[in-house]
Amino acid sequence: MQDGRITLTQFIIEEQRHIDGATGDFTSLLNDIVTACKVISNAVNHGALVGVLGSAGSENVQGETQKKLDVIANEVFLRSNEWAGHLAAMASEEMEDVYPIPERYPRGKYLLTFDPLDGSSNIDVNVSVGTIFSILRCPGECRTRPSAEAFLQPGTEQVCAGYALYGPSTMMVLTTGNGVNGFTLDQNIGEFVLTHPNMTIPADTREFAINASNMRFWEPPVRRYVDECLAGREGPRGEDFNMRWIASMVAEVHRILTRGGIFMYPLDEKMKAAGKTGKLRLLYEANPMGFIVEQAGGMAVTGRSRILELEPEGLHQRVPVILGSRNEVQRVLDYHREHDATHAA
Ligand code: AHG
Ligand code: MN
Ligand code: MN
Repeated sequence: MQDGRITLTQFIIEEQRHIDGATGDFTSLLNDIVTACKVISNAVNHGALVGVLGSAGSENVQGETQKKLDVIANEVFLRSNEWAGHLAAMASEEMEDVYPIPERYPRGKYLLTFDPLDGSSNIDVNVSVGTIFSILRCPGECRTRPSAEAFLQPGTEQVCAGYALYGPSTMMVLTTGNGVNGFTLDQNIGEFVLTHPNMTIPADTREFAINASNMRFWEPPVRRYVDECLAGREGPRGEDFNMRWIASMVAEVHRILTRGGIFMYPLDEKMKAAGKTGKLRLLYEANPMGFIVEQAGGMAVTGRSRILELEPEGLHQRVPVILGSRNEVQRVLDYHREHDATHAA
């Protein structure tokens, strides 16, 4: 811009030069995603004034009650990204099946998955929520007949991942595999401006985030890790720890990118008994956040393996998520390894 600031549009045009085989398509797709996030941000900001709070009275494929804003944000993403010819299909937390780009529009070479509104239990209480997205290439024949299988690519295949955070300020944080950069929405000019270049996660932290109401169901390695944190200076870690739980993964990851920390939504006995494989969704929560966290120097694992290397089995597959500061995530990984080695079947 004239004033020396770098807009997101300028940044992604320059960034695209690092992506193999990318044409103007990618920049244009990101612009449409950015527009969708601005529209959602506007709806979130106006809240009760424009009647967008509360329940929609329906359930999504996960059996969760949809908020009005879950449905609105999903529609905004579909409408904003279907027309331009960059995508073959989209998949979302709020839709059971994939959404092939309708015949009346040209189809493109990318796939988009998204969680249109993350942390939606926070909407009605005016606490931060966000949007998470991931861009994949459309393999082989998928352009003509896009199916769910086309989306089942490991997270290492992501071309781009990002999130928008609708907090005290609206931010967009992105990676295309070349580091992580954060942009703040300047409401006066309607542009995201680069404010957080090269975001990196400190390797060490004294802050953890976990929903402790599930403590009685945790597996021994998670319980051990948290017990040791809680024991503070008198315990084996020899230091006091702080705890946070916002119930909005976008906000937790953003805090971790800003000042470090570890976030855990682990596998637990209650999930296992119910036949569930985790709480968070692989394709539009764990993979994009894992990509961002790794690009910022952190780690993202299930407790037993690297999230980005998982071979997805379903569009809405759930996985355990442990991510953040490298040394702490490695410690939790080690605790799982030690436990599994001594309790092998
Ligand atoms: P969503 O609103 O998209 O369903 O995601 C909510 C997720 C995640 O953002 C958050 O960390 C977690 O669910 C909160 O779960 P609890 O309500 O069990 O704490
Ligand atoms: Mn979510
Ligand atoms: Mn959601």
